[in-house]
Order: sequence, then structure tokens, then C-alpha cells
Amino acid sequence: MSAQIGVTGLAVMGANLARNLARNGYTVALHNRSIEKTDVLLEKHGHEGNFVRTESLQELVDSLETPRRVLIMVKAGGPVDSVIGQLAPLLEKGDIIIDAGNSHYEDTRRREADLATKGLHFVGVGVSGGEEGALLGPSIMPGGSRESYDSLGPMLEKISAKYNDEPCCRWIGTDGAGHFVKMVHNGIEYADMQVIGEAYDLLRSGAGIEPAEQAKIFTEWNTGTLSSFLIEITAEVLAHTDATTGKPFVDVVVDSAGQKGTGRWTVVSALELGSPTSGIAESVFARGLSSQRDQRAQAQEILAGHEGSVALPETFVEDVRLALYASKLVSYAQGIDMLTAAAKEYGWELKLDEIASLWRAGCIIRAELLDDIMKAYATADGQPANLLLAPAFAESIAGALPAWRRVVSTAVQLGIPVPVFSASLAYYDGLRRRRLPAALTQGLRDLFGAHTYNRVDMEGTFHTLWGEDKSEIEAVDTH
Ligand code: 6PG
Repeated sequence: MSAQIGVTGLAVMGANLARNLARNGYTVALHNRSIEKTDVLLEKHGHEGNFVRTESLQELVDSLETPRRVLIMVKAGGPVDSVIGQLAPLLEKGDIIIDAGNSHYEDTRRREADLATKGLHFVGVGVSGGEEGALLGPSIMPGGSRESYDSLGPMLEKISAKYNDEPCCRWIGTDGAGHFVKMVHNGIEYADMQVIGEAYDLLRSGAGIEPAEQAKIFTEWNTGTLSSFLIEITAEVLAHTDATTGKPFVDVVVDSAGQKGTGRWTVVSALELGSPTSGIAESVFARGLSSQRDQRAQAQEILAGHEGSVALPETFVEDVRLALYASKLVSYAQGIDMLTAAAKEYGWELKLDEIASLWRAGCIIRAELLDDIMKAYATADGQPANLLLAPAFAESIAGALPAWRRVVSTAVQLGIPVPVFSASLAYYDGLRRRRLPAALTQGLRDLFGAHTYNRVDMEGTFHTLWGEDKSEIEAVDTH
């Protein structure tokens, strides 16, 4: 029996993707470095579809129909290079290697270019939805050549999540585009979780609402504009009581958030692209700060707070909901801005409406909001330069604005850190402000480094002779 696809790397994500493929009618060849994992999978789930057991990569390759499709699901970084190194010599021109892990897009670009010289297609695929998504239908973001998608796309679309029967899988663009988009998805995921955390902290420390009660609030919020997977599971986590102590589960968990690196990559790449991704960056920094446990322990003893007392408005809970909504919207706007900048930089024709559409189901950031975001970019009358400028969002954020300002100033008074709420508000105000102090920055740069400036009232590039008579001369642009 020849298999339509091979999967190598059968830890949970790889095993679940293999099962998803088999459950959808594909014959799947299985390979793992140690045969035990393959056998456990076959023993537990062999009845779910057609699997071919293989003990070596050569056997895996021999079991496949041509052009061969081999999906790698191993740890990002060195392990991916190592599997490719063993696999590529066994393949023939036109075969496809698929990397479905969270690889860095620059690695994907490098691998794609390298394998292309051997006539092989290399497809970096972003897969989101965690273990359950991999099994039941993830959101899938494939990059690589258009030609490879003709052969691979139908399979990926079939196993992907569906939103109103539409597959949450589209060809994203060449080389590393799929992994780039997945990386940005994760940056938004970080910000999304951080704003939820800030809302929780404000409701708990500001308004004294206990986790079980908050679970009801989040459940309620999940029925409105905030409706999303992350809000839904927030209610679940907050409602959970620790069996050992009887305390709210959230109170027995150490308050240091881990990270595998995709959020950090998003911010590094945003800096390189010059895209002001401040909310996403603050969410990564917030995890970093949470992990500095020694410094935090000392600071708790040494640093003053001088918190003010604030009478909370009756609308406080609703205010927090609106601040959460507005800040979340800014994170999406910033993530999308990065996509636009990257499309220019890397020559990808990213279709923002399609990307939003495939985040509507299956992935971790799936949310009602994404259907509206998709519509904002699906317009025929020119796409908005920034998500916040789409008429529907400009209006909804205007509605949230008074509450957003109240919440941020209350948080500041109470000494409750809200880095993403406040950075998002600063971004919003920065974006809409008629004059920014960047004019002064330019003046300073010109004074100490002759970096030149442009004028508001005439064309050209200028420099002031600061150390002489302060007269202005036309200059070569060096800003
Ligand atoms: C997904 C997730 C998944 C995972 C990341 C983030 O889309 O299914 O983003 O890829 O949760 O690895 O994990 P960290 O929070 O550890 O960076």
C-alpha cells in the first residue's frame, strides 16, 4: 500500500496531525526516531485509519506515492536541519518536505532556498491550535512554492478547522511566509493573553472580585464582541479550584510566565521591520519581568508604591471590558502592520483578508472579531492603511475610548501595572496626534550629529549651523 503522506516525529503534535490525516481518509506512513512511539500510536489509534509502519527514513520514503510528501514535526532549530539532512538525499526532484513546527521564518527561507537547488520543495507550515487542534482541525498557514501547494493544499485544507464550512488554510506566500504569519499569530497570542491578565488583575486587585466570580464575568464577556477561545478558557481556568488546598487554582500557580520564543521573535522582527509593535512587545516584556523572581522579591521589600485611593466608577467592570477590547484591537492592528511591512520587505503578496479568515477557527487567537477584521480587508474600495482606520473599528474604538482612558488612569493611581493597556493607548494616541515630539528629536539629532531634517513648509533637506550663526543650509539627506 503506498501512502499519500509520511509523518516523521511522533510526539503529541506529530502524532495528532498524523491521526487527523488518517481520519480524513489519507494513508499515512509513520516514522519516529525510536520505534516505540510509532508502535504506541498504532496500538492506541491504528483503527482510526490507514497507517504504514516504517522503521527508517528510507522505509518511510519508499512507502510514499510520488511526488512524495514528508511532514516533519520535530523541535524547531537544529533537529529540523538534522532530519532534513538525512531525508533530502533519499528524495527525488519534485518531492515535498513539510516543516509543520514553530520554526523561525528565516530558517525556513534558508532551508527553502537550499532545497530548491536540489529540486525539492520545502514548505514551512504554521500550525495553530495546540494538541487538540492538530487532531481535530488546526488553523494552517502554509508557505513555500505555489506549485507545492497544488499538491499539498487539498490535504491541508481537508484536515484544517472550518469556519462556516470554509477551510482555515490558505497558501500564504513563498518561502518563509507561512512561518512568518504563524509567528505574528503567536505575538498576538501573547498580547491577547496579557490583556486578559491585566483585566483580571484590575478586577481582582482594583475591584476585589474573586476568581470564581470573575469566571462568570468572563463567561458573560464571551457572548459579546470579546467572544474568543482565550476568553472562554480564561473563564474555565478562573473557575477551577485547586483540589489540594481548596484555593482558587490561579492562586496556587507561580506567577512567572514561560515562553518558548515565538513572541520574542515577533518583537525582534518588528524592530527590524520598523513596525511599532508596542503592545506585543510589552506582553513579551511582561513575561520577562514576571520571571525575574529574585529582583521582584527584593523590590517588594524596598520600592515605594505611594498608591492613590481611587473611587471606582460604577461602570468599572464594563470599563475594563472596553479597555480590554480596545487594547486587543490594537494588538491585531500592530500584528497586521507587521505583516504589511514584511510583505514589502520579503516580496510576499500577503492577503490580509485571507489571513484573518483562516484565524477565525482552529487557532489559539480565534475570535468573533476576526470575521470583522477579514471584512475590513476584503473591501473593494481600498484597504485601510491601519486596521484601526477601518470605519467599523474607528467607530467601535471611539466608543471604548473614554472607558479605556479611565481604566489606564485608575490603574496608574492604584499601582496596578497594565503595560499592554497603556502602551496600546499610547500607540492609539500617537497614531492620531497631529504633531509628535519627533520634531524635537530631529532638532536634537541635527544639533549633535548634523543628521538633517525636513521642513513642514518647503521641500528639501536642511541642516542648521548650530555651532556657528544658526543659519540654515540645504543639506544632503542623512536622516
Ligand atoms: C498555537 C500556539 C502554540 C504554542 C506556542 C506558544 O498556535 O497552537 O501558539 O504554537 O502555544 O508554542 O508557546 P509559548 O507561550 O511557550 O511561547
